[in-house]
Amino acid sequence: MLRGINVPERKKADKVRTAVAKHYRKIAKEGKSCCDITSEDSEIVKIYTPEDLAVLPGDAKNSSCACGNPVAIAELKPGQVVLDMGSGAGLDVFLAAKKVGPDGRVMGVDALPEMLAKANKYAKRMGFSNIEFRKGDIENLPVDPDSVDVIISNCVINLVTDKDRVFREAYRVLRPGGKLAISDRVLLEDLPEKAEGDLELWSACVSGALKEKEYISKIKSAGFVKVKVTDRRTYSEKEARSFIKEAAKERKKKTKLDEETAVKAFLAVANDRIVAFKPVARQY
Ligand SMILES: C[S@@+](CC[C@H](N)C(=O)[O-])C[C@H]1O[C@@H](n2cnc3c(N)ncnc32)[C@H](O)[C@@H]1O
Repeated sequence: MLRGINVPERKKADKVRTAVAKHYRKIAKEGKSCCDITSEDSEIVKIYTPEDLAVLPGDAKNSSCACGNPVAIAELKPGQVVLDMGSGAGLDVFLAAKKVGPDGRVMGVDALPEMLAKANKYAKRMGFSNIEFRKGDIENLPVDPDSVDVIISNCVINLVTDKDRVFREAYRVLRPGGKLAISDRVLLEDLPEKAEGDLELWSACVSGALKEKEYISKIKSAGFVKVKVTDRRTYSEKEARSFIKEAAKERKKKTKLDEETAVKAFLAVANDRIVAFKPVARQY
């Protein structure tokens, strides 16, 4: 330990951050989504409604890295200010912008310039004037305190090593009474030992996931109240195997992890949708 800094933890966080950035930079540059969008039973069709998909330009649909639909639980109203933590190519920002209308505003924050460039390209094409994308880290949001009505986030917090910090930041920027509406991966069972800390599975939103109970307790520790899991979607073995096969095709090289371990790891996760509120009055 160096004066309160845990060096192994910091090294682990740096390794994870580098691997995650490399993974999503490649996806952004190659114009790809994180899931197969070509088949009828593709992830994006399970996640978004036909009405949602109709709003998005064709190639934006190919840029989804979602594991849920936080806008569907956000109950957005015209005029609200919304923040999307880890906005990727901007799909949820566009859906939120439609809901809050021209009197509202939606900010997307993402760490990668390549993702922001893609999101800005789509925003320009769709003609939105109530959208802004900012470069930044969700552990240190470039957003004023008490300035946001609703925070959404889709499959991002699992990627970060310091989740306590993310929830503290979310609490800081929400106005009193503001709502957190997130989709994220959590664990319902232990990961296979070999999968723990595996950087490929971490980047694929699996190995960084926390047990659901621990995740909820971190949200509460940050000060949020009325924390509720509104729904939970798990994968079938067929879906897990299909993800692993797709990922292997993409990589074109062998991974350290065997297929059976990777499948077991995918079967341990759930895609949760969670809502929580910042109390109206400060809690002491
Ligand atoms: C799984 S993708 C989800 C993207 C988007 N929410 C969606 O549903 O398509 C994860 C995104 O989070 C971003 N990201 C990862 N770690 C981040 C961090 N610490 N701060 C900000 N963005 C981060 C990545 O650049 C990537 O765009």
